[in-house]
Amino acid sequence: MNSKEEEFDKSLRPQMFADFPGQGNVKEQLQIMVAAATGRGEPLNHVLLSGPPGLGKTTLANIIANACGRQLKATSGPVIEKPGDLAGLLSSLDEGDVLFIDEIHRLPRQVEEYLYSAMEDFRIDIMVDSGVAARSVQVNLPHFCLIGATTRQGKLSAPLRDRFTMKCRMAYYSPLELQTILIRSARVLSVQAEEEGLLEIARRARGTPRIANNLLRWVRDFAQVRHSSVVTKPIAAEALKMLNIDDDGLDEMDNRILETIIVKFKERPVGLKSLAVAVGEEEETIEDVYEPYLIQEGFLLRTPSGRIVTDRALRRFGRTSGTAPHQPELF
Ligand SMILES: Nc1ncnc2c1ncn2[C@@H]1O[C@H](COP(=O)(O)OP(=O)(O)OP(=O)(O)O)[C@@H](O)[C@H]1O
Ligand SMILES: [Mg+2]
Repeated sequence: MNSKEEEFDKSLRPQMFADFPGQGNVKEQLQIMVAAATGRGEPLNHVLLSGPPGLGKTTLANIIANACGRQLKATSGPVIEKPGDLAGLLSSLDEGDVLFIDEIHRLPRQVEEYLYSAMEDFRIDIMVDSGVAARSVQVNLPHFCLIGATTRQGKLSAPLRDRFTMKCRMAYYSPLELQTILIRSARVLSVQAEEEGLLEIARRARGTPRIANNLLRWVRDFAQVRHSSVVTKPIAAEALKMLNIDDDGLDEMDNRILETIIVKFKERPVGLKSLAVAVGEEEETIEDVYEPYLIQEGFLLRTPSGRIVTDRALRRFGRTSGTAPHQPELF
């Protein structure tokens, strides 16, 4: 992200629950937790936010801290390389502060183990000196709240996962929820837009607020240069078509993945590795970014023998359904 994009992102980030549409159940649970903890004057419980990129994990972490008037200190898994880094970080916190660890699944294992006792007992044992002089020193920590964010809950070790009192799984947003987000974004950015035009963008944003906001920015530019500046439904449709985003909201890589399985692999189950090589994308990105949406929209299935396309995907590419070989049992 360049600095202009970062600025844009920041200005659109809601600061309170009321400006954060969607994630109904998750949001409600968090609001209850915040109200209860502030009511008792206690620090919050540890929270784990998981889900695909761009759904609002970082945004929610900030909203939680704001809602209880606490400081948020942000860091990320790969940055904390040694137990000493973690000890330094934790002892710099004040009582009740919120520590946000992004990409928490990328914490080194050795650091993760120190985090267990920090989360549970607000204590950390660190080794000082080495060789014969080595000894362990116990450091008491302030009662902090840890908010972890991850795109891959499955990569977290069970003991770490279990130490989060609240585990929230973020879901893709509905077009109407994204439209609400876009109405606010258009206001913040002073973009003239008709609600129908914003819904058109919302429908094609892969259920993701970050994508919706980015598309809004593109459609705004397109409307300004080619038309009268107002974002209408036909203008939005025309602008998105130019980005090769189709009616189902699938982008180029989504289509490439489906087409590769259908044409190159002749509709047979494909392993992640082969698929990644064939489409020229990282395995992790396919698993975290593309597959979850294709699966949710009913284009793709994960089976023990590999990824397979569904009838819906076959129809999209003009194949008659049922030509696929026998579909193996799902897990
Ligand atoms: N519910 C929401 N309402 C309004 N805007 C939202 C909402 N969720 C996310 N956004 C916007 O989408 C953008 C991305 O959100 P955020 O950075 O919180 O996602 P993330 O889940 O942390 O993504 P990543 O996994 O890539 O870190 C932000 O600019 C934010 O303004
Ligand atoms: Mg984030």
